[in-house]
Amino acid sequence: MLDCRLLEFGFDDHKKSIEIRREVLRKPLGLDFSANDLNAEKDQFHIAAFYKNQLIGILLLKTMKDTSSTTLKMRQVAIDPKFQSKGYGSVLVKFSEQWAIENGFNLIELNARNTAIQFYKNLGYKVIGHEFLEVNIPHIKMFKDLL
Ligand SMILES: CC(C)(COP(=O)(O)OP(=O)(O)OC[C@H]1O[C@@H](n2cnc3c(N)ncnc32)[C@H](O)[C@@H]1OP(=O)(O)O)[C@@H](O)C(=O)NCCC(=O)NCCS
Repeated sequence: MLDCRLLEFGFDDHKKSIEIRREVLRKPLGLDFSANDLNAEKDQFHIAAFYKNQLIGILLLKTMKDTSSTTLKMRQVAIDPKFQSKGYGSVLVKFSEQWAIENGFNLIELNARNTAIQFYKNLGYKVIGHEFLEVNIPHIKMFKDLL
């Protein structure tokens, strides 16, 4: 049974979500977050997945006011390794899409690592453009129309 909800910036659950992101997304690349990186996320929406009250997954939604006020960028999608490949990442993304619709957004874009392209395709995201490097690894831009 998975429960998804919005986190409050700076509280314990937010700190736990940073630990998961650090383990899953940064340490394998020999990288870490700077204080500036984390502060810049203050205005972003942090949506977490809880399994039996334990935070096991996280993603961030960032408004794209420079391009469109109804577009969100999904970023930092990470599931605790012990809980991966059980369908929880898909539940978290679908919950976030529903939250986005209810809050007036109609498009989500993201930069997918090559290893996650199939995961997003399964959820209805489409590839756009060419491969590029981000945090030194290949990514590709994907998007989904929510309406
Ligand atoms: C990618 C990630 C968020 C997916 O979450 P998850 O809970 O493991 O995924 P799910 O169990 O919901 O997977 C759903 C589908 O995507 C597929 N899938 C998941 N991760 C995959 C991967 N790395 N490569 C290929 N397919 C993958 C699964 O096979 C599954 O398909 P199926 O139901 O037909 O078997 C998670 O594995 C993760 O945190 N990975 C490391 C960090 C990462 O790559 N984040 C994305 C950055 S863009």
